[in-house]
Parts: sequence; C-alpha cells; structure tokens
Amino acid sequence: MTIQKAQQSRRENVDFDNLVFGKEMSDHMFAMDFRDGVWGDSHILPYGEVGMALSLSALHYGQSVFEGMKAFWGADGKVRVFRPRDHYKRLMRSCERMCIPQFDYDHFISAIRTLMELDRTWIPKERGKSLYIRPVVFAIDYSLGLKPSLSYRFAILTSPMGYYYPEGMKPVKLMTSGEYVRAVRGGVGDVKTAGNYAASMLPFKEAHEQGFSQILWLNAHDNATIEEAGVMNVFFVINSVLITPALSGSILPGITRDSVLALAREKGMIVEERAITIQEVFDAGHIGKLQEAFGTGTAAVIAPIGLIHHDGNEMNINNNKIGPMTEMFYYDMTAIQYGEKEDYLGWCEIV
Ligand code: COI
Repeated sequence: MTIQKAQQSRRENVDFDNLVFGKEMSDHMFAMDFRDGVWGDSHILPYGEVGMALSLSALHYGQSVFEGMKAFWGADGKVRVFRPRDHYKRLMRSCERMCIPQFDYDHFISAIRTLMELDRTWIPKERGKSLYIRPVVFAIDYSLGLKPSLSYRFAILTSPMGYYYPEGMKPVKLMTSGEYVRAVRGGVGDVKTAGNYAASMLPFKEAHEQGFSQILWLNAHDNATIEEAGVMNVFFVINSVLITPALSGSILPGITRDSVLALAREKGMIVEERAITIQEVFDAGHIGKLQEAFGTGTAAVIAPIGLIHHDGNEMNINNNKIGPMTEMFYYDMTAIQYGEKEDYLGWCEIV
C-alpha cells in the first residue's frame, strides 16, 4: 500500500461540538482500482477531488454500491470498529448483485486499519459520537455502453459524526406513502446500491415538507405489510413481544437490526421476525398493546419512533417518549461499541 500523507491536517478547522452527518471528511482516503481483470495496488491519499470524464459509467447507469460502518473511541482509549466482517460480507453481496468484481477481506480491513491509524485524531472521543466509515465501489469505465464496466474503484472515506437526526434521541415521526414504493422482491432493495437511495429522495423530500423524518415503506404488492424506513430497519414492541419485518427479499439486511435481534435473544426475549402490517400496528395501538417502536441503522443507531401517520390517521407511540426497551438496546449496543461492556458476541475489531 502506498501512503501519501496530507501536508496539513484540516482537523483543527472542524467544530466537533456541532457535527452534521456527512459534512466533514477526514484528512485521508483509500483507493484501489480494478483493471484488466484484477484488483491492483492500493493507495492512501489526502482526501480531495477525484478527476473523472463525463462518460464515467457509474454516473449514468448507477453501478455503485456502498457500506456505512463506524469506529468508536472507547472508554479504555482503544478504537473499535463495529462488525467489519459483516459489513464486508454485505458489501460483497451488493457487488455480486450489481455485477461488480469482489475482493478479499484483507484488502478491506487493512485499508480501514491504516486509515484509522493515520486519521486517529478525527475519531471523536465523546460518547454518542463516532467516525463514520464509508466504503464505496463504483464503475469507472469511460463509456456509455450499457453493460457491466470493465474497471472499478474501491474507495473509502471517513467522516466524524454525532447524531444522525437533528432531533438527537428525541422520537422521530414516520409516514407511510400511498404513492411511492421503495423496492420489490427480485429488485435491488436487499443490497446497498446507490439507486435505492436516489429513488427515495423525492418521497423523503415530500415527507420532510410535511414534518416527517422518514417514510415507513410498505410492501409494493399489498401496500399493507411494513418493510423498512429507508435508512433504518424497524422494530415494534407489541404485548411485550419484539417484532421486526422478516427479510423478505426487498428489505436491507441491517447489521444493527441483526445486533438488536442477537441482544434480544441473548436476554431470552420473545422475538418475531415475520410479516407485520400497518393495520396490526394501529390495531395494537388502539387497544393499548403497542408499547414501543424504534428504527435501527448504522448512522441512525437506535432511534425511537414517536408517531406514525398512515392514510389520514396518526398513531402516537409511548406518548412520544423513548421507551425502556429502546433505551436498553441503545445502551447495551453502544456500551459494547465504546468498550464499556464486554464484547461477549465478538463484534468489535480493535484497530
Ligand atoms: C447507514 O446507516 O450507514 C447508511 O448507509 C444510511 C445512509 C444513507 C445514511
């Protein structure tokens, strides 16, 4: 790996007390290209613009996949990356679906380790903050031919962050959409490809204009079964049972989702991964059995849901307050991430 260090760090110009998600990038980035059928040498460079011609194929046809992961500055002064192998595996599944060549875990983890070493001062030390790691793999042929590109770039940038939502830990409001759908089985909703997020921007914009944080996506076929909330998987606590939509083929298999399920099962809770309709959630709310709802995601962590709007009706959840189970999962998971609690599920890699 070649390393070209930034001549001057930009770290001192960044206000770590007021971090906005995705706004500030750390000093260095990683890049490795695929050409002539093989992945080539890897490089660390100062973060900055990458030259490109307007015919760059990822721009036109969206052959691009990414991951979102995090590094945490622990209570013991150690830096932990959360579940890197699982993020790598999901990235490889995304590559496979989008016809992008795969690469070894060694390339992935050694790139992250080197970036964490070089940009250590960019990892926030305050609890609740972290260094967001964004690996991306995209097509770099200069061609308008509609076919899999012959060349690709695997790159990583990092960005310090606090809360994803401006609300912080205050419950978010979701709305269903009678008009738009996110994904269908057989499509690409279960992988992390750029187009999924591009397609959600107009619905999100309209939801924001109406005062909602996210769309609660319903199944494209029945417009009734709950899927996910775009940057989060969703969970409901009904009658003390933890319920989350089963991975039906159009939902992103979230790593935080999987972590919450593992923690819940460890605690002996009743957990159901199954189809759940919006009607079931509203019915449970009407008879006082809907205790809590929350979303999970790398950026969002565990975000309480305080209200759902569906088809002209609103359901308030837990008086718009964070519930005890939501709080417990948040603290259990973040305690492992910040090294305050034993990593008994072997999730963290110390870098
Ligand atoms: C993440 O949670 O890491 C994501 O990738 C969602 C992102 C679009 C904010």
